[in-house]
Amino acid sequence: MSSQTRQTVVCVVGTRPEAIKMAPVIRALRASSWARCRVIFTAQHRDLVAPVFEFFGVQPDVDLDVMRPGQSLADLSNRLLASLHDSLRREDPDFVLAQGDTTTVLAAALASYMLSAPFGHIEAGLRTHRLDSPFPEEANRVAVSHLSTLHFAPTTAARENLLHEGIERASIHITGNTGIDALHLAARRDSPLGAKLDPDKRLILVTVHRRENQGEPLRRICESVRAIHESFEDVEILWPVHPNPAIGPVVAEIVGGLPRVRLVEPLSYGSFVTAMKRSALILSDSGGIQEEATALRKPVLVLRQVSERDEAVRCGVARLVGHDPATIVAETSRLLGDAVDGRPLAQAESPFGDGRAASRIVSIVKKSLNPVRSKAVRA
Ligand code: UD1
Ligand code: UDP
Repeated sequence: MSSQTRQTVVCVVGTRPEAIKMAPVIRALRASSWARCRVIFTAQHRDLVAPVFEFFGVQPDVDLDVMRPGQSLADLSNRLLASLHDSLRREDPDFVLAQGDTTTVLAAALASYMLSAPFGHIEAGLRTHRLDSPFPEEANRVAVSHLSTLHFAPTTAARENLLHEGIERASIHITGNTGIDALHLAARRDSPLGAKLDPDKRLILVTVHRRENQGEPLRRICESVRAIHESFEDVEILWPVHPNPAIGPVVAEIVGGLPRVRLVEPLSYGSFVTAMKRSALILSDSGGIQEEATALRKPVLVLRQVSERDEAVRCGVARLVGHDPATIVAETSRLLGDAVDGRPLAQAESPFGDGRAASRIVSIVKKSLNPVRSKAVRA
């Protein structure tokens, strides 16, 4: 098909998890004969995304350069909506795709709606049913669901959430999570960890970044890590610190300088996957890491009160521990007792997908566009 008759699918990407979870979709679109795939990178995250694009061989076509140090939600939203609206108008897409629940995704859905461009939401239907947690992601994803044309739900539970909100059944497709596609791609490569670790120690991997954990909850999480360090001499703790300025100084103040705590820059995706595989235990408030840990069968203590990934809790890999030090230390102790040497948990198949979500999404988008004649034909 000539580039004039191909249909334009714009993929919008803003942050690290979106880059990871959109990469398999972008690669599948670029490998297709029918789509002209354009990638708009909002750069809500700058340094965290560059290595992900490099890892997956993705080149953005447009860079909106919105990130500012310590950006507020209002400033970020303003910049994203204005610049995405302009950029999408210029691209004149037949279809727009974005993944997840960040401010980039909300702005992409809203701008597409304003321009009457069909919008497909990848990872649709995740809910905690609490607008304050995670904040602002729960509100973002609820709003995005009501602005989307197609909903790519990773699991049946996600589809049920959408149906309960009155979303039309025919517009919802269960595809699995594209994060598992990305994990399969990464697992095929041999990435060095990039951090010097003691091979004789059991590894605990820690990440924290959620806005609702900033401030006092983060201090309590750090106190918990300090207590774990004191209680278990045979563990080494690896903490790639998120660049949000609300995180690093607190972490450095409370756990910096402890001999078996390695505070490091964010790891490249490949190295992070290697670190997860080597871990005896993961402590994290991340969304994507709950899915990855489940697929890798690594126990994860979720540093949150509620999770929209209930499947991970139900299959026994994840446990919600909030930020109470006594609970975190007790659960760590229990799990270190179980997981002797970082062997994966034995359990059933991952509930988050089989690694073929991206090709399903691309076929569904193609089918949805079939009745529409391409712009070149219309002209
Ligand atoms: C954002 C998303 C969150 C997602 C997370 C993934 C929103 C509101 N939040 O949270 O849903 O789970 O990304 O990591 O959409 N920074 C850098 N370099 C970077 C990235 C961030 O310096 O590459 C710093 C900047 O000072 C920036 C700050 O981190 O202002 C916060 O970034 P922001 O995207 O607003 O929030 P996150 O906490 O990263
Ligand atoms: N990740 C990474 N390097 C790190 C920490 C995390 O590549 O140092 C990856 C991780 O494998 C997962 C994603 O980043 O795929 C999760 O991103 P984050 O926790 O920032 O966001 P969330 O998933 O909570 O939205």
